[in-house]
Amino acid sequence: MINKVTTVNNWLKLAKNKLKEAQISSYSLDSELILCNILKVDRTTILAYPKRKLTKQNIFHANHFLKRRLQHEPLAYILGFKEFYGRNFKVNSSVLVPRPETEEIIEQLKNNLVNNNETLLDIGTGSGILAVTIAKEFQNKNIKAYASDISKDALVLAKDNAILHNANISFIKSNLLENIEQNILNEVTILIANLPYVNKNWIDQEKPNELHYEPQIALYSEKEGLELIEKLLNTTNKIPNLKYLILEADPEQFCKIEKIAQENNLKKMVQKNYTIVFKK
Ligand SMILES: C[S@@+](CC[C@H](N)C(=O)[O-])C[C@H]1O[C@@H](n2cnc3c(N)ncnc32)[C@H](O)[C@@H]1O
Repeated sequence: MINKVTTVNNWLKLAKNKLKEAQISSYSLDSELILCNILKVDRTTILAYPKRKLTKQNIFHANHFLKRRLQHEPLAYILGFKEFYGRNFKVNSSVLVPRPETEEIIEQLKNNLVNNNETLLDIGTGSGILAVTIAKEFQNKNIKAYASDISKDALVLAKDNAILHNANISFIKSNLLENIEQNILNEVTILIANLPYVNKNWIDQEKPNELHYEPQIALYSEKEGLELIEKLLNTTNKIPNLKYLILEADPEQFCKIEKIAQENNLKKMVQKNYTIVFKK
């Protein structure tokens, strides 16, 4: 790999070239973040001291991370964390890497959807980014937060993230609403879900692809990506006090989703980017 380099600048130059050759579009940022992680400094420091000497151990570790990135492993898995809505969250290969587009769900909630004493349920919580962020962003509103997932390993990580951010969330292992007690469902006023919505046919399995590293159960859903969202919509009648339902999906799926929602007495309020908001 890169053995003859001695300074930050040298390593960055070579790493950026290699990642660029591997067609990784974030080659520049990724190289800098790898080195930041190894040297335990922020990007400003890396860029301010380009002539800083690297030890053999620094180079060994940086090269190891670079090698993984060159195989298209998501940077978040390599570094073990990902930023979401201004906070760092632990991630590992049992959860989806948090996506920036998911921040829109928080933005929509900030459009006056959250009053005092709401009860939130986050279905398919993964790393817990949504439940934790909402608990933190609305902590002055006395919100009660529940989060569920079908994956035991995801829930372990989500609990870790709740502890990391000192967020009070109750976690439940459940297939959609199936294993959530009715007395909890009776409390819920806001339901959010970023469920798997990728249609397998959309993905080119042959190309080097970051999606290959992420859990299938977090990405794909049958019926052209709509099966789980449809099942959830068809069970919202189990939530008698529901006020709002916020979903993430592909905008191309929104028409079909809206139709199923209407059949379940949910009225579309807004759609923006990958987020669609319904009112009961
Ligand atoms: C697209 S990921 C979203 C994770 C996280 N909410 C986020 O926004 O980054 C979908 C999550 O739904 C979970 N999941 C898949 N099928 C499920 C089901 N039937 N019931 C509950 N959760 C499910 C997966 O384990 C995964 O954590």
